[in-house]
Amino acid sequence: MGLNLVMIGPPGAGKGTQAEQIARARGIPKISTGDILREAVQNDTEVGRRAQAIMSRGELVNDDVMIGIVRERLSRTDTADGFVLDGFPRTVGQASALDEIVAGRGPLIVVEIVVPEAELVRRLTTRMVCEACGANADAEGARTGTCQRCGARLVQRSDDNESVIRERLKIYQRQTRPLVEYYQASPTFRSVNGAQTPDRVRAALLSAVLSTDSGATKGVQR
Ligand code: AP5
Ligand code: MG
Repeated sequence: MGLNLVMIGPPGAGKGTQAEQIARARGIPKISTGDILREAVQNDTEVGRRAQAIMSRGELVNDDVMIGIVRERLSRTDTADGFVLDGFPRTVGQASALDEIVAGRGPLIVVEIVVPEAELVRRLTTRMVCEACGANADAEGARTGTCQRCGARLVQRSDDNESVIRERLKIYQRQTRPLVEYYQASPTFRSVNGAQTPDRVRAALLSAVLSTDSGATKGVQR
């Protein structure tokens, strides 16, 4: 049984940043439903065409579509040793579908990243991403205006303007925050303070994972 990690947190909390690092360190896939949808939009697939308008308003794509995407992704063999889910589940309906999808695969470790709203708005209004590969810009990338990973141009994400950010935050409170209640009783639910440097958040996240029985027995490396 591997590490089955779910990251929950509002827009800008650092889910993607942390998910990528922990997935790389463990050699397991990071499954980001936002990235999957943006790729579908870029490739002009049917899902992408339907999702584009919803995403640009900051609303949520329908549960059935999202559950179908994640069910298919988790059926692939590269998830046998675990996975890091970033941005899914986002509704109680998605969470109960996930429980059914992963039944028999070992416990889900669910970590909520908590960050004050003013800091979320600051991060998202200043974030730059690569227009080709979607990576967040680091300080060096932001200085040069090009992606540190692939060299393409940096742009603002289309849902990172202030009115859409406010809507995303509202929808998080209304539709996703109830998941904390859904998971709270679970012995493998943890909250971490996301309003610290990325390295400190990473350390807090790793000790949260280790503090669950399943994290400890899997020997998660720092
Ligand atoms: P998604 O792409 O998941 O967006 P989101 O949840 O709004 O979150 P973000 O990606 O904006 O933030 P993040 O928490 O990943 O933070 P990051 O690490 O980038 O979803 C987009 C849309 O797709 C949704 O609105 C919805 O329409 C649709 N969708 C996706 N999944 C869905 C689902 N399951 N159901 C229905 N619809 C779905 O960090 C943000 C910035 O802060 C970066 O610049 C980063 O460098 C910086 N940063 C990170 N950590 C720190 C730190 N510790 N200190 C300072 N800066 C930091
Ligand atoms: Mg993200």
